[in-house]
Amino acid sequence: MPRTYLVTGAASGIGNATADHLRAHGHTVIGADLKGGDISADLATPDGRAELVAAARELTGGRLDAVIACAGIARFDPLTVRVNHFGAVATLEGLRPLLAAGQSPRALVIGSIDAVHPTDAATVEAALAGDEEAAVAAAQAAVDRGEGHLAYSSSKAAISRWVRRSAVAAEWAGAGIPLNAVAPGVIRTPLTQPLLDDPEMRAVVEEAVPMPLRGPAAPDELTSLIAWLTSPENTLVTGQIVYADGGADAVLRGETGW
Ligand code: NAI
Repeated sequence: MPRTYLVTGAASGIGNATADHLRAHGHTVIGADLKGGDISADLATPDGRAELVAAARELTGGRLDAVIACAGIARFDPLTVRVNHFGAVATLEGLRPLLAAGQSPRALVIGSIDAVHPTDAATVEAALAGDEEAAVAAAQAAVDRGEGHLAYSSSKAAISRWVRRSAVAAEWAGAGIPLNAVAPGVIRTPLTQPLLDDPEMRAVVEEAVPMPLRGPAAPDELTSLIAWLTSPENTLVTGQIVYADGGADAVLRGETGW
């Protein structure tokens, strides 16, 4: 049965491929991104997050069947925490009432294999406490001591832990809404292509994210998994961080990391 999905980050990469896949299967997709698409909203800001929810309400009459939060950036600065954690939480929390009015509602966010790398504990804890300015200050402190790269892993660790915590709460599991993350390895998108095109950076990426099954993948290799997790067929999987990473998580965390 055709469903109505909202996908953030729909203008590019994984979000774009997901929206295309769902439309090709007969579903209605409301695409949100910084510019263009059905909803233009900057998820780094409280105003943009409120605009997303208001526009989604108007376009759908207050009912959504699934939300897929793909919008994200990988800058080595605190903006990454604002978009990847707080923007994603605001998307999922803000649209939850619309899901509650939908059919077989499902929610999903794109995490990352990077969440298993070292993080900045102060950034992650502040993010999980819901204190955006403290999280941003902690991420800035990491930048100031030369560890700006921790902004990305910290943002993805925080959103992964938020999924684990929230999925089993009354608002999600109690309301019958599965909530999961898909954590990709290296996917060829505008986010990563410049790194992959540079032989030195490509070697760094391959060492950080070893993918024994196969190397960097295309965005449409994720879309069936995302579609299934957000479909009515998924009646049991919730609170999971599903690694779609060519084996990177198994290499990095080993046989006890599950
Ligand atoms: P992308 O750069 O192709 O697409 C990201 C989209 O998010 C863009 O269209 C961009 O405009 C949008 N966006 C960025 N900041 C925004 C904001 N403030 N408000 C609204 N929209 C905003 O990147 P890609 O690779 O498709 O990334 C999608 C998600 O997948 C991100 O969360 C990323 O962290 C995650 N991811 C990507 C991996 C990869 O190898 N490409 C690996 C693991 C995770």
